[in-house]
Amino acid sequence: MTTSTPQPVTVGIIGAGYVGLTTGVCLGELGHRVICVDNDPEKLALLRRGTPTIFEPGLEAMMQRNLAAGTLRFTDRIDEAVRESEAIFICVNTPPKADGQADLRYVEQVAKEIARALPADYRVIVDKSTVPVRTAEKVADTIRRYNPRAKEFDVVSNPEFLREGSAVQDTLNPERIVVGASTDRARTLMRRVYAPILSRTSAELCEVSIRSAELIKHGANSLLATKISFANLMAEACEAGGADAHEVLHGIGLDRRIGREFLRPGIGFGGSCFPKDIAAFRHTLETLGADASLITAVERINDHAYQRFLQRIERELWVLDGKRIAILGIAFKANTDDIRNAPAIRLMAALGKSGAIVTAYDPQATSKAKRVLPNVRYCADVYAAADGAEALVVCTEWDEFATMDLARLRKAVATPIIFDGRNIIDRAAAQGAGFTYYGVGRATTQ
Ligand code: NAD
Ligand code: UGA
Repeated sequence: MTTSTPQPVTVGIIGAGYVGLTTGVCLGELGHRVICVDNDPEKLALLRRGTPTIFEPGLEAMMQRNLAAGTLRFTDRIDEAVRESEAIFICVNTPPKADGQADLRYVEQVAKEIARALPADYRVIVDKSTVPVRTAEKVADTIRRYNPRAKEFDVVSNPEFLREGSAVQDTLNPERIVVGASTDRARTLMRRVYAPILSRTSAELCEVSIRSAELIKHGANSLLATKISFANLMAEACEAGGADAHEVLHGIGLDRRIGREFLRPGIGFGGSCFPKDIAAFRHTLETLGADASLITAVERINDHAYQRFLQRIERELWVLDGKRIAILGIAFKANTDDIRNAPAIRLMAALGKSGAIVTAYDPQATSKAKRVLPNVRYCADVYAAADGAEALVVCTEWDEFATMDLARLRKAVATPIIFDGRNIIDRAAAQGAGFTYYGVGRATTQ
């Protein structure tokens, strides 16, 4: 239920994608008044009807509740949102350019539109999109350039740390809220925005300089990606050295200074964030004259993890032409329908190119995958995808793949082989059901 908050803020959100929509819906839920702006008419039509354009657990009901309560509305008018809101959050996409640097054209476009609509009284413009250090300064310059009379505003950096698949939960219960601001006036407004979260959770408010906030975001994603690449490196060492990556990484992660999270080896990290953000950070480091070789290695190992998995399939299955291969999981991770940079999409395209007949199942991502790879046969469940398959290939860590009926699967497949790119299936159970099992960084069982 929508809660009442002592000092509600009217918030404008520009860009109603994963971050903007989730942030807008959650701020409405916390008692603020939210105006969400997007310039994609198809998206807007759905959002206005209360249909989220993304799959996120818990989002739909919360969105519909806030639309009905009037705490949330959708529009294509940035000027309207700027006039009515005290804080204007920029949540547009920042895709990579060919050399890795962040393409900031959408951020600049929004800054121009904000500038033209800026009224005489004070506004805070909040950079929530992931951007390189010193972007807030560029946003402020742009606003002044396109509206030389604009004086009463501050630009704040407030990076977002939500994960897809748990976006609502992460937004309402964050570990920290990072606010980079240069005036008390801006900090005070940001505290009002986040007061409902800070008062009922243990989230730490991390108030820093604007440039520090920007670097915290790129640094955090780069370190998380580094942990995953380290896990993939250890998996390769385990395979070559005859050890078990599951045991080794568990043993390493038990040291609290290291931590157990983000040490799961697999087929490489994907998604719209890590690949783009670490490439952007590499570019920033190079521009600043700093040593970017760690980040380059993280990218290289990530690609190598995918290539090793593909080569393993090619080696074990021999001729791929005409072979039936079932892909289990298409999304770049579990609990999302997002297929941006999903290793499964890359793998399905490669297998298809080699002549394999690919079937696929994903609980949420099928309709998005169909638009990218129309020649794959998409199935309604794992058993239909496995029917007649000569190998099963797990690409996403969906919970349901850990609890599949392996005996039923054994009956469905033509030849019992599992390539588990996420180490999610119980190896002994797979072996017990008659499968040859290939994991990542683990001995093969048959
Ligand atoms: P997205 O592509 O899902 O959404 C961006 C939205 O902005 C789109 O709906 C687009 O139509 C809209 N838009 C673009 N230009 C516009 C304009 N001029 N006016 C109005 N609307 C406009 O992107 P996203 O995944 O939400 O990411 C947004 C930013 O947040 C990126 O910088 C990303 O790196 C960062 N981020 C994303 C996540 C995540 O999990 N997706 C998490 C943390 C940070
Ligand atoms: C990531 C970060 O976790 C968020 O904190 C951040 O806000 C977001 O990027 C962003 O900046 O946009 P997300 O991309 O949604 O979130 O998903 P993650 O859970 O981080 O997973 C990313 C990829 O790494 C997935 O492909 C996942 O399968 C893979 N992964 C994750 C591993 O291969 N091993 C692991 O141990 C963990």
